[in-house]
Order: sequence, then structure tokens, then C-alpha cells
Amino acid sequence: MQRIVVLNPKGGSGKTTIAINLASYLASQGARPVLMDFDPQGSTVRWVRKRKPSQARIQVIAAFEKDTRTTRAFQLRVPEDTSHIIVDTPAAIEPGELPEMTRNADKIIVPVLPSDIDIHACSKCIRDLLLVAKIRREDNRIGVIANRIRRNTLTYQSLIRFLHTLGIPIVATIRDSQNYVRAAELGVGVHEMKSYVARADVEQWAPLVRWLAGPVPDAGSPPAQSSGGTGGTGETTVVAQSVNPAPDAACVVPPAVAKA
Ligand SMILES: Nc1ncnc2c1ncn2[C@@H]1O[C@H](COP(=O)(O)OP(=O)(O)O)[C@@H](O)[C@H]1O
Ligand SMILES: [Mg+2]
Repeated sequence: MQRIVVLNPKGGSGKTTIAINLASYLASQGARPVLMDFDPQGSTVRWVRKRKPSQARIQVIAAFEKDTRTTRAFQLRVPEDTSHIIVDTPAAIEPGELPEMTRNADKIIVPVLPSDIDIHACSKCIRDLLLVAKIRREDNRIGVIANRIRRNTLTYQSLIRFLHTLGIPIVATIRDSQNYVRAAELGVGVHEMKSYVARADVEQWAPLVRWLAGPVPDAGSPPAQSSGGTGGTGETTVVAQSVNPAPDAACVVPPAVAKA
């Protein structure tokens, strides 16, 4: 069972969109994903409830509800045949909550939008993951998704450059597409839409899927090179470098992280 946490304290960065589309993809491949919604807004729960019985089954747990009649562990239990737990997290979570939120996470996906404000928030989020939640960069557990991208805009270029400097791989580049808005309304994911409508969106999920399926380093193995250019899965490097080669930027550690 793989535990995937989608996280970025910045609201509107695409956490729910990524979580539900990933669940939809996995379910359409015959896997048994469970969505765990920690956001009191309950968007993920609402999306699952829109699904029809004829669609691939996705279970959801309203983890934001605190049920005092049972233990927390009982409330969060998943079926035995669960293949993936996808955790959708709320906005504005405090750094102190990150260790708990990311505990046992095999992969942590951080969606980020190409705006100055979002880039700044993402930088803080990744710093907190490394320093507060103590996620080791070389474990390849953190991946950024550049979301709502319009190629060749200046903010997109600066987002790519910034992600290189973090040494964290870009595991997918998702375009700005009304298909995500429509899919959310309909209780489906882009993978479940007609292929002539959503082909361009579906193709963009391939690097993410490969990154998720990639090897998990075992505790005894020596750490890989901590460079966004060469230490990642390779997939992500291709995504980033195809837009902005800047290989020299890949090893730069942001001063705030390097200091601590
Ligand atoms: N790639 C995308 N293209 C178009 N709209 C998007 C995309 N990603 C997210 N959105 C829209 O942006 C809004 C915020 O996304 P959401 O996933 O709810 O963010 P979060 O869960 O981080 O708050 C939603 O209306 C969603 O449909
Ligand atoms: Mg959300």
C-alpha cells in the first residue's frame, strides 16, 4: 500500500484537483485507491459522492470529521485491499503539523502555481518539509507539480528556474485546462473523459505516474546525490530541462535551507 500526501499550505494550488485526478487514474487502472480528505471544506468527499456506481470505485474517508464515538485509528481505517491512500490536505496547515501529516508518506506531492506569491509560499513549504518534518531530500519522497501552466510565459520560466534551485524534482507539469474544472463538477477525472477531449491533459500525467512507481530507497542504502538535476528520477529532469536547461542552477540550495 502506497501513501501519497498532496500538500501545500497555499489554498488554490491544486491539491484537491491532483488528489482526485490521481485517484481517478489509479481506479481506472484497476487499483484500489482510498482518498482521505483532511480539508474541512470537504471538496474531495463531495467529488466522490458525485460518482456513479458504474464508474471505477473510489472510497473516501472524511478525515476532517472528528468522531468522538470511535478512536481516530478506527475512523481512518482502510479496506485491506487498498492499493493507495491519497491524502488531500487543507490550506493553512502550520509547520508544526507537517511531521504528523507526512508520517509514513511514501510520496509527498506539492502542487504549485506559477505566480510570485505561490512560488514564495512553495519555497516555505518545501523548507518546512525538509527542516521541520525532516524529510530527506535524497529519499526522493518530495515531488513538485507545476500546475495551471501556460507554457512560455515569464512566470512559468521563473517557476521552473526556482524549482531547479530547490533541488526538488518537478514530477509533472499540468496545463491550465477547463477539463479539470469540468471533471470536478462531474465527479470524474481527466482520465475518465473522452480521449479526444482530454488527451493533452492525460499525457501530462505520465511522468507523475512513473515517479510514483519508482523505487523507494531502503534505510540502509547510501544517499543519492542531492541534486535536482541528477538525483531525481530522471523523468522530472527531462520535464524541467526541456524548458530551461540551466544545469548549473540545479545544485543550488536556497540560503534559508542551507543555513539551518
Ligand atoms: N490545471 C488546472 N487547470 C484549470 N483549473 C484548475 C487546475 N488546477 C486547479 N484548478 C482549479 O483551481 C481551483 C483550485 O483548485 P483546488 O484543487 O481546489 O486547490 P486546493 O485544493 O489546493 O485549494 C479549482 O476551481 C480547480 O478546479
Ligand atoms: Mg482542496
